[in-house]
Amino acid sequence: MSRHTFTMIKPDAMKNGHAGAIIDRFIKEGFKIVALKMTNLSTDKAGEFYAIHKERSFYGELVEFMSSGPIIAAILEKENAVTAFRDLIGATNPAQAAEGTIRKSFATSVGENAVHGSDSDENAKIESDFFFSVLERF
Ligand code: CMP
Repeated sequence: MSRHTFTMIKPDAMKNGHAGAIIDRFIKEGFKIVALKMTNLSTDKAGEFYAIHKERSFYGELVEFMSSGPIIAAILEKENAVTAFRDLIGATNPAQAAEGTIRKSFATSVGENAVHGSDSDENAKIESDFFFSVLERF
């Protein structure tokens, strides 16, 4: 099990002013911030990041949404980081997210669901490398 996971605070949470509260939840749950940046994904870059979902019906909508405004990308460190972080953010669809999870608190729909969290150690590495150079990690 890797000690690292990758996350993005999505454009809906940024627009709604929840970024600070969400980062506070990461820290209170014991995640150490290894890397952090605010950036704007172009449609090309969003499409590349979510290429794994290219054949899904929601791909176009997902790419459009993820490039609609700034996001915050971060690498987080904790024991069993991927699983621990997915427990913290809750189910992809906020209607199914457990009480106390970040998506329960801040997400509005399955598409606009406040945060992304890597689903495996392998994808955590791929996604972290997509955004951060070695010099940007602490
Ligand atoms: P995320 O964890 O970032 O990874 C893939 C994203 O696709 C997911 O969060 C959702 O925001 C989005 N997604 C999944 N299912 C749907 C859907 N049915 N409609 C729109 N977006 C979806």
